[in-house]
Amino acid sequence: MKKKSFFISIEGLEGSGKSSVIKFIEKLLRKKKVSFKVYREPGSTKIGEKIREILLDNKNKKLSPHTELLLYLAARTQLIEEKLERDFKKFDFIICDRFFDSTLAYQGFALGLGKIVEESVKMFSLGVIPNLTLVLDVLPKLGLSRLKSKDRIESRALSFHNRLRNGYLALAKKYPRRIKMIDATDSLPKIYQRVQKQLEKVL
Ligand code: TMP
Repeated sequence: MKKKSFFISIEGLEGSGKSSVIKFIEKLLRKKKVSFKVYREPGSTKIGEKIREILLDNKNKKLSPHTELLLYLAARTQLIEEKLERDFKKFDFIICDRFFDSTLAYQGFALGLGKIVEESVKMFSLGVIPNLTLVLDVLPKLGLSRLKSKDRIESRALSFHNRLRNGYLALAKKYPRRIKMIDATDSLPKIYQRVQKQLEKVL
């Protein structure tokens, strides 16, 4: 696939301000007059949004760990094949609210599925790798306290979210050129500043 776009994934702990940061990035890109498209995972396709509902529904208590993994992968292949492969040829920037590092961190590290996650993520990302990944990092206890309501994943025990954070830290250590940790502890303007500093390097 011929790729023109610079592909940025935005990752983060729960309650790290990811949605606000993505709105800020959109504003910044508009100001820079570059063409871009924003997607979210799981979702951004009709099928992906249906899969998202299943994954986040608190009622789905019986969803098994491997089914959860497969559903995240399915939503991803749908997005890649339906939208990204086309849009990579058209836009300067593609922004994705979460991508495969979420699967590595949530299902691999935090849920503990390990090796099978690494292998299946590699297989079902269909060769797509972000050029830059920003991880909004906040202590899980603080992040979770910012949430008004909790979905199926957010409702998991604090120990899950602590393993998740360790997962992201391990990924950032393993891929230091691609993954940048952004301290998301304090006020949004400060977080925006840190995000802008990273983005200015590629704009
Ligand atoms: P969001 O609410 O941040 O958009 O993400 C949806 C939830 O799904 C969030 O709790 C993180 C989780 N998730 C995974 O567990 N694995 C994945 O591969 C992805 C993309 C998201």
